[in-house]
Amino acid sequence: MINYGKQWIDDDDINAVVETLKSDFLTQGPKVKKFEDAICEYTGANYCVAVSSGTAAIHIAVASLQIEKSREGITSPNTFMASSNCMIYNGIKPVFADIDNETYCIDPERIKGKITENTHLIIPVHFAGQPCDMDKIKKIAKQNGLFIIEDATHAIGSKYDDGSRVGNCKYSDLTIFSFHPVKTITSGEGGAITTNNKELYKRLLLLRNHGITKKNSESIGPWHHGMQILGYNYRLSDLHASLGISQLKKLDKFVKRRREIVEKYNEAFKNIDWITTPYERPEVYSAFHLHVLKIDFDKIGKSRKQVMEELRERNIGTQVHYIPVHTQPYYQNKFGYKWGDYPISEKYYQKALSIPLYPKMSDEDVRYVISMIIKTFEEIV
Ligand SMILES: Cc1ncc(COP(=O)(O)O)c(C=O)c1O
Repeated sequence: MINYGKQWIDDDDINAVVETLKSDFLTQGPKVKKFEDAICEYTGANYCVAVSSGTAAIHIAVASLQIEKSREGITSPNTFMASSNCMIYNGIKPVFADIDNETYCIDPERIKGKITENTHLIIPVHFAGQPCDMDKIKKIAKQNGLFIIEDATHAIGSKYDDGSRVGNCKYSDLTIFSFHPVKTITSGEGGAITTNNKELYKRLLLLRNHGITKKNSESIGPWHHGMQILGYNYRLSDLHASLGISQLKKLDKFVKRRREIVEKYNEAFKNIDWITTPYERPEVYSAFHLHVLKIDFDKIGKSRKQVMEELRERNIGTQVHYIPVHTQPYYQNKFGYKWGDYPISEKYYQKALSIPLYPKMSDEDVRYVISMIIKTFEEIV
């Protein structure tokens, strides 16, 4: 089966985990710090806190900003719901700003229209690996006194308009990553937050581990620890971190291969008028977590469900990224959102289909996917 995404684990990854298994530390030992240091070195950020998932990362990233309850934050409807759920966890109302029709990322102009006196936060999502227009978003945030958390779960290895690496926090207060196996590199499960703000870094360390410090334990006794704030157990283990360290070394190679495959796909589909291939802004460099085709299913007279099923029969796994978050039943019931509220995301969603993209795909796999997609459509056109 050629799935829409898949990890690439080699012997050196396996050996790295085995070495940790044989060591004294399984969790929160030296490997976690080493992983955090490696992420800082790669992204250029000053501080990094590794956690148990991307969702944990974004939950405590929002918590670290200490925004009063009942305030609002703005994000994209075209995302995985974790990007907006993290606001709800923290008592903040998620508000959406529709996407740009070409990049499928949040449209900065539409952010402006959603800002009220209650807005405190923007969470831009670098959809499919393409960095949002952070220059514009940073300007809007500055003018309105808003925090920015970049959801870069799709974008480790991507570069902004100025050529610098996503995660350096030049444009934001915090950036979060995910290391789930379908992402560009994996630690099994895992996530990380980068920042250049020391106070936020210290708070994130507390939030990751029940809000506990060893402050005063020297004078009181070695058993002593004090819970300073309400935190969580979002620790990453040394086992996961050792896999993450090993994978990070291969990130650039993985991204290069992803981009080669994207080029092959785009070339193959460029003259097919019912397919729109992904648009990459010329200024940025996308790590291409996903390859999303926009397909005019009405034109080909076959439903997306039919196409997905037929491709599955040919051992090709596809997926849809994303059902617009505001249309999820919980969001409709709790906040009163409805279909029609964000028409660009909704129209995009009707046509979106993510086709297989992962670095371990061989050229033969890529050719097979291309020919099967064309065949699936040719049969009916
Ligand atoms: C845009 C986005 N944000 C957040 C997450 C959450 O990451 P995790 O699965 O590591 O919790 C994901 C995961 O798919 C995602 O795609």
